[in-house]
Formats: sequence, structure tokens, C-alpha cells
Amino acid sequence: MKDILEKLDQRRANAKLGGGQKRIDAQHARGKLTARERIELLLDKGSFEEFDTFVQHRCADFGMDKQDKIPGDGVVTGWGTVNGRTVFVFAKDFTVFGGSLSETHAAKITKIQDMALKVRAPIIGLFDAGGARIQEGVAALGGYGEVFRRNVIASGVIPQISVIMGPCAGGDVYSPAMTDFIFMVRDTSYMFVTGPDVVKTVTNETVTAEELGGAKVHTTKSSVADGAWDNDVEALLQVRRLIDFLPASNTQGTPSWPSFDVPDRVDMSLDTLVPENPNKPYDMKELVLKIVDEGDFFEIQESYAKNIVTGFARMEGRTVGVVANQPMVLAGVLDADASRKAARFVRFCDAFNIPILTFVDVPGFLPGTAQEYGGLIKHGAKLLFAYSQATVPLVTVITRKAFGGAYDVMASKHIGADVNYAWPTAQIAVMGAKGAVEIIFRADIGDSEKIAARTKEYEDRFLSPFVAAERGYIDEVIMPHGTRRRLCRALAMLADKHEEQPWKKHDNLPL
Ligand code: HXC
Repeated sequence: MKDILEKLDQRRANAKLGGGQKRIDAQHARGKLTARERIELLLDKGSFEEFDTFVQHRCADFGMDKQDKIPGDGVVTGWGTVNGRTVFVFAKDFTVFGGSLSETHAAKITKIQDMALKVRAPIIGLFDAGGARIQEGVAALGGYGEVFRRNVIASGVIPQISVIMGPCAGGDVYSPAMTDFIFMVRDTSYMFVTGPDVVKTVTNETVTAEELGGAKVHTTKSSVADGAWDNDVEALLQVRRLIDFLPASNTQGTPSWPSFDVPDRVDMSLDTLVPENPNKPYDMKELVLKIVDEGDFFEIQESYAKNIVTGFARMEGRTVGVVANQPMVLAGVLDADASRKAARFVRFCDAFNIPILTFVDVPGFLPGTAQEYGGLIKHGAKLLFAYSQATVPLVTVITRKAFGGAYDVMASKHIGADVNYAWPTAQIAVMGAKGAVEIIFRADIGDSEKIAARTKEYEDRFLSPFVAAERGYIDEVIMPHGTRRRLCRALAMLADKHEEQPWKKHDNLPL
């Protein structure tokens, strides 16, 4: 009996070595951790339960049947906990066939996907792999398809998170692309459909892997990735932090954590946050940090379309999604990128029952051929669509400008927001005074006295929150210093909000 037990221990120890010590050392030399080391850091200490440790590939082509078979077949799968809450995880093991996906490797992942969906718990994939196992041909492609289909079935039901921690090419990019969030590790990870060699052959462009699909490219240019960190350890600790914000599924509420921040905390500095000169910028993130519990804000897509800020925070210990125009960048204007970024975030929050706080200071949509040719109409419509469709509690605060169509789009009363507040500094109008006067008093252009008088008249009448408040479009004009208390109370009042949309197979989001 003792022998049998020892054999199991031996087999496990052998499996844990993956592709062997030499390859583990090479992995470390590149500044990367191994699949199992990553899982250890991601999950609560000692909580990992591994499945399919001894699964092997069944390929006999290209001499694969003659090689020693490595247990696990290039992916480590199982479940564990993050701060006590169940999550499922799979981590590609680059030391085994470069983490490439075989038929059995795919079956290990789909087993975990099915379990995560049955149990209604988040699933996290750690990627470090060379795509389809070339020796397996169509069996590997079929495996990818099985994974992709499950990503789509689980979308909007359980949170799916992908962390790119090494190469991620070919078939490996599309599963992350269908998950809710993609994070990358700077300098050691890259993602592309086809690598630099194929690019050179087809388009004659010479690019490095980093230039083609490094963390910088995907967090600032393509918006494929939602964030990046400097190394494996930091990335995994931040993913743990994100998990704490997320509900386990679309039928379970947001997690509730103890908060030491009182709901009626006033912050007098907010009364002077908005500068007297309406064209002067201020940092909207300062407002967010001063309002939310303990100033704890997990930003999503921090480096992309910085004219809008999106991320998770807590109010009275419960998660909220924050969407805020950022006057520090492009005056907080809505352009195609900002609209798309915020739309995706709003849809995630709505799918997972996370209330949304919207802070508005927006001069309108960005004019110009670049924007129009780039589909501003369709991308702006995405945000409009997302907010209009959202049934989660929506609470809006207009701090300064809310001009034109952007006023409507940024969670206005008209498209379904529940509680709409404005600071006394709010200016809710079709456009700013200069543009408006030049259009409606065109005949007076050239007469500077008349124009000045007309401008003053327009400013007095329209550049305030009161015209909107008189109509009930704004529920109350509030003191900036009391904003946290107002928002906490509004969210508490809306906690049991129930709203249904008419039955449909699905909508037709302007993609
Ligand atoms: C089988 C693979 C492999 C693969 C790597 N390996 N990729 N084995 N299938 N796809 C093996 C290597 O042979 C090597 O084995 C070990 O993994 C480490 O790889 P290296 O090349 O030595 O590592 P490195 O120099 O770091 O380069 C990593 C890499 C490169 C950039 C990922 O290996 C690479 O380009 N691989 C091929 C990528 C690719 O084209 N994949 C197919 C995509 S098509 P040994 O034994 O020598 O150590 C695809 C279609 C699916 O995925 C589409 C579905 C929609």
C-alpha cells in the first residue's frame, strides 16, 4: 500500500516539473513564472485543487508517439479561491510544447469552462503559448472552436478574465478576445493573430513582436487589452484585486466588503474643484477618488481614450462602475474611442448587475473628418445604446458642461437614468456660449458690444443647471461637498430597482 501511495507522490512530482527543470529555468531567465507558480500567486494559499494532472496527448503524427509524454499536456487547470470566493483557472504551461493547444489540452480547458458555468463562478485564463499544436492539425483547431463556443455561452453569465503573460498568437488570441477583460505583462507578453514573420511575408512590413502586439500597443492603440503591469507578480495581485470587485455571476449580487469610510463623509475641497474659468481643466479622477470608499478605484483601460475614465469602486462596501468624462484630456470630449471604451464598460456593468455612477463634464462630440470617417456616429451610438438599455441603478452627477448630444448620451434622465444631480457649476445646454451666439446672432457678428451682450444673455439663461432643473431633468442641484452622501443614499434607495425590457431574442447593438 505504501508503495502505491509513494508512486502517486512520484507521479505528481514528475507532473509538476512540466517540460523539465531546463525549460523552467529558461522561463525564469525570461522574467516569467511557471504556470503553477502563477496559480499559487493568484489563488489563496493552499486553495488550488488541480484537475487532469495526468492527461496526455494522443497524437501519433510527426513522431509524437515516440517522444516521452508529458503529463498535463501544456495546461494546468483547476479551481481555488480568491479571498475565500471560488474561481476557476487554467494556466498555459509554456515549458510543454510551448503551451500549444492540442485536442486533450483543449478538453482540459473546456472541462473547467463547463464547471465554472455550472457553479456560476468566474474563470481566469493565464496565457503563455504558441497557438495550435502544429502536429495535431485540425484536431487542435476543433479544440479551439470548443473553447470559443463556451466563451460565448458564458459571456454575461460569469466573469471571464484573461491575463497574457507570454506569447499569445494564432488561436490563442480569440478566446481572450471574447472574455470580459484582458490584461498583459509589460515587456514579456505579446498578442497577435499572425506574427512578425508572416507579416513580413504578406505585407513586407518589418516589425518586432513588441511593436506588433506588446502591452503598449494593446493598451494605448488597439484597446484590445484593459490594463498592463510590470511583471507576473504584480499582474496576478491586481487580478485578485479585480476579482474582489466582481460578482460571481449575473444572478448573484455584487460582493459586500467591510468599509471603514462613512457614507456621509463631506469633502469641502470639492466645492472648489471646478475652476471659475469654464475652459480650465481639472482632474475628474480627483473627484472619483474623493467620493468612493477609501479612495479605492480599479481603473479599466487607463491608458486608452483618456478623455473618459472607467473603472470599479465601492460605495458603502458594494461595487459600483464609474464612468466619468475627463476634462484634463481633450476637454473631456466624446470621440469614437471614448464612446466605444465606455460603452463596453457600461454593458459589462449592466450584464453583472453593477450600479453605474456617471460624472459628466463633456463639451460634446469631437468634430472633424477623422472622427466622421472613423464612424463616430456608430461608435457614439454604442454608448447611447448601452446606457439606454441598462437596467441597473444609474446615478448621474453633472459637474460642469453637459452640451449637445453628449448631454443626452451621458446617462441623462431621458435615456433612463434614475437619479440625476447637478452641481451649481453645471452648464446644461445645446452648446457653449461662443458657438451658440455665432449661430443664432449671426447678423451681429462684427459688432463686439452686441455680441458681448448676447453672450452674457445666453450664459445667464442657459449656462446653469437651473433650466434643466426647472423641467425636472435634474432631480436636485446639490452642494459638491455633500456628493458622497447623496450618492450613497441614492444607491441605497435604488438597491432593489427592478426594470424589465420587452422580450427579444437579442438586440442589434450598432457594432
Ligand atoms: C507545437 C510548439 C508550438 C506549436 C512552440 N512550440 N509553438 N510546438 N506547436 N504551435 C514548441 C517549440 O517547438 C519548442 O519546442 C518549444 O515549444 C518552445 O518554443 P520556441 O520556439 O523554442 O520558443 P520561443 O523562441 O520563445 O518562441 C515562442 C513562439 C514560437 C514565438 C511562440 O514557438 C512560435 O512562433 N511558435 C509557433 C506559433 C504559431 O505559428 N502557432 C500556430 C498558430 S496558428 P522544443 O522541443 O524545441 O523546445 C493557430 C491557428 C488556430 O493557432 C486558429 C484557430 C482560430
